Amino acid sequence: MNIMTRGDIMAEGKGYGKCILFNEHFVVYNIPSIVSAIGDYTLATVEPTESGGVQLVDNRPATPGYKEDKLEHQKDSLRRILDAMDINQDENLKITLGGELYCASGVGASAASCTAMARALNEYFNKGFDDDRINDIAYEGEKGYHGNPSGVDNAASTYGGLIWFVRGENNIFEPISLNEPVEIVMGNTGKVANTKAAVAGVKERKEKEPERYGGLFEDARKLALDARKALEEQDIKKVGELMDLNHRLLQQIEVSDESLDMLVKTARDAGAVGAKMTGGGLGGYMVALTPGKELQDRVATAIEEKGFKVLRTKIGV
Ligand code: PMV
Repeated sequence: MNIMTRGDIMAEGKGYGKCILFNEHFVVYNIPSIVSAIGDYTLATVEPTESGGVQLVDNRPATPGYKEDKLEHQKDSLRRILDAMDINQDENLKITLGGELYCASGVGASAASCTAMARALNEYFNKGFDDDRINDIAYEGEKGYHGNPSGVDNAASTYGGLIWFVRGENNIFEPISLNEPVEIVMGNTGKVANTKAAVAGVKERKEKEPERYGGLFEDARKLALDARKALEEQDIKKVGELMDLNHRLLQQIEVSDESLDMLVKTARDAGAVGAKMTGGGLGGYMVALTPGKELQDRVATAIEEKGFKVLRTKIGV
C-alpha cells in the first residue's frame, strides 16, 4: 500500500472480490455461510482536487450496463462511507476505482469497492483505522447497495481467506484453512442482477410460506455444518456434492434462474466436482469447484464455448 498523507499526491487501498461457497440469502437470516476471498481485487486511489467536492471516477472493468445500473446505489454508498468515516461530503478530492476485479453481480464487486475506498480514505486522511473498523465502514457502504446486507461480502473483502460467517448481534467470523488453494471457475451469466430485489423476494416468499421456507432454512443450516467439516477434512469431493445440494436449495427459494442453471449444468457436464450459483442470483455469477489446472481449464472452456465469460481463480488463498 502506498502510504501518503493528505495534501500529498495520492493514497490507495485494495478490496478483494469474493465467492460465496455456501448459503447466500440464507445468511441474511443468521444461517451460517462460507465465503472465500478470491485473488482479483478493486483498487481505489484518492487524490486532492482544487474544487468540485468529491468526484468518483469508475474505471473498473464491468459487465455492460453494470455501472449505469448501480450508479445511484454507488452514490448512496459513498455518502454512507464518508459519513461513517466522519469526512465532510464537500471535501475536494477525486476517488478513482480500478483494479482487475471484473464487476458483475455475485463476485462481491460492491463490497470490494467499499473496502478499497475505506482503505484509501483511511490512508489519505491518516485516520489510523484497523481492519475491524475498515470492515464496519465497508459494511455501512454496502447498505447503499443491499439495504440489508449480511456483512459476508465485506468480511471476505477486508480479511481475505476462507471464512465461516454467521450474522448475529455480534457477527461470527472464523477462518477455515485449506491445506492448499483449490481452483474454481466463476461463470458470468452477463445478466446484471439486483441483489436488493432478490433479497426482498426471498423475504416476501418466506413470509407467505413460513413452513416450507422454515424447512429449507433448516436444511441450509445442516448443510453449512457438513460443508465446514468437509472443508476442514480437505474432502473436496464432498464439498462439491454439498455445493450441488446448496444450488438445489437456492433454486427452491427461487433465486436461481435459467441462465445460472444452464451454466451450472455445463460445468457439471464438463466434470466439475460441484457447481452452484453464487451471490445474489437471478443473473450474476455461478461457481464451479474444479481442483487442478486441467479440470479448471476444461470447465472454463466449456462455459466459454457457450459464449460466456469466466474467471479462473482459487479459493483458500
Ligand atoms: O450479490 P452479492 O454478490 O453481493 O451477494 C449477496 C449475498 C446475499 O446473501 C444474497 C445478500 C447478503 O447480504 O448476504
